[in-house]
Amino acid sequence: MTAWEARGGFHENGKHPRYDNAVEHWRRWPDDFELLKALNVNAYRFSMEWARIQPTPGQVDPTALDQYERMIDRLLELQITPMLTLHHFTHPEWFHKTSPWHERRSVETFCEFANKIVERVADRISLFVTFNEPLVWALAAYGDAKFPPGEKDFDKLFLAVHNMMLAHAETYDLIKSKNPEASVGIAKNFVIFKALRAWNLLDHGLVYLCDGFYNQLLLRAFQRNRLRFHFPFLVNYAAPIALEDRIDFWGVNYYYRLRLRFKMKMNDPISMSFQETSDEGISDLGWEVYSRGLWDVLNLVRSTGKPIYITENGIADADDRLRQQFLSKHLSVVQRAIKKGIPVKGYFHWSLMDNYEWLEGRHARFGLYAVDYSDNKRRLLRDSGRWYADFISKRV
Ligand code: BGC
Repeated sequence: MTAWEARGGFHENGKHPRYDNAVEHWRRWPDDFELLKALNVNAYRFSMEWARIQPTPGQVDPTALDQYERMIDRLLELQITPMLTLHHFTHPEWFHKTSPWHERRSVETFCEFANKIVERVADRISLFVTFNEPLVWALAAYGDAKFPPGEKDFDKLFLAVHNMMLAHAETYDLIKSKNPEASVGIAKNFVIFKALRAWNLLDHGLVYLCDGFYNQLLLRAFQRNRLRFHFPFLVNYAAPIALEDRIDFWGVNYYYRLRLRFKMKMNDPISMSFQETSDEGISDLGWEVYSRGLWDVLNLVRSTGKPIYITENGIADADDRLRQQFLSKHLSVVQRAIKKGIPVKGYFHWSLMDNYEWLEGRHARFGLYAVDYSDNKRRLLRDSGRWYADFISKRV
C-alpha cells in the first residue's frame, strides 16, 4: 500500500479521495495502449508504482515487474518510446515509516528500489525521469500539509528535497552504468508568478523570491553544487550537494500563471490567487491558462544548456470547452521555440485520459479521452483529442 492510500489525499474540505482502482489502467492497459496509438503519438510517459513492486521492505513482487516489462515491450512494438518515471508523488507506506524522505537513509532505500527496475528494463528505456516534481511533492508533504505525511516543517522540507536530489544523482549513475545511451532527467513544475498589485513593490519582491525558489532552485543546484534559498525571516537554507551536473535533460511541467500578494503576517506572508486576465480562460480547477508563460519557462530552462522535454501540459476541462485552444496555443509556442533554437525534444500532453487527480479524485478531468465512471469506466475520445491526433498526423 502506498503512503497516499494509507493516509488518503488531503483536501481543504477534509475529503480524502481514494484511488478505488482509479481508471483501472493496470488491468486495461492493452486496450489503453491501442487508444494511445490512435492518437498518433510516438512517445508515452508513465510511472511505476513502487508499492506494487516492493509491497514490503526487501520483498519484490515478480508479477508486478513482469507486467511492467510487458507494458514496455508492447509500447516498443507499437513504436511508441516509453519515458519512465521512477517516483511520481507516491511511495510505499513502509518506506515512509522506515526511512522517510527527510532522513538520509531514504537515499539508499530509494536506490535499492531503482536498482531493481534499472537492472530489469534499462536496456529498453532510453528516457528516464527519476523524480516527478520533487519540490511540489516536498511543499505539499511538509509545507502546506496536503500530501502525506501532512506536516508543516520547513527544515524537513529542505532535507527531503536534498535527499531526493542525492537519490537522483545516484540513480543517474546507476542507469548510466547499465545503459550509457539513456537520457536521465527530472520533471519539474514551473509557474509564472505575477504581482497582484502592479504598483506594490512588496508584491514584486515576492514574485522575485518565489520565482527564485520554485522555478530556479533546482536548476541552479545542478550548476552550482549548492542548494541555497533565503526568504527573509522564514527560511535560510544553504548546503553543498555534489550533483556534478548529473542531469541530461529537464522535464517541464507547465500549467498556469499565479498572482502573488504580500500580507503583513510574519509566518504566512504570501497570498496566492488566479485572475482571468489573459483571454485564454480559466480551467475547472480555477487555474489561469497563459500559454505565453510556456515561452518564458522554456527560455529560463534554456539557460541551463540542457535539452528540454515538456513532460506535462494540460487542462482540467470536463466539457472540453477550452482544451483544443489550449493545445493549439501551447503547441505553437513549442513550434516557435524550436524555430528559435530552444532545444525542445518532445511534448507530452497531460493526460491520455481522465486521471485520478491527487486532491480532487475524479473531479478534475485532464483527459484527451473522457472516462465515463457511470458506464464501466468507458473511454471516449474528446473532440480535442481528435484534433490533437489530427495535428500530429499532419506533421509526420
Ligand atoms: C502532477 C500530475 C497532476 C497534474 C495536474 C502535476 O503536478 O505531476 O500528477 O495530475 O499536475 O494537477
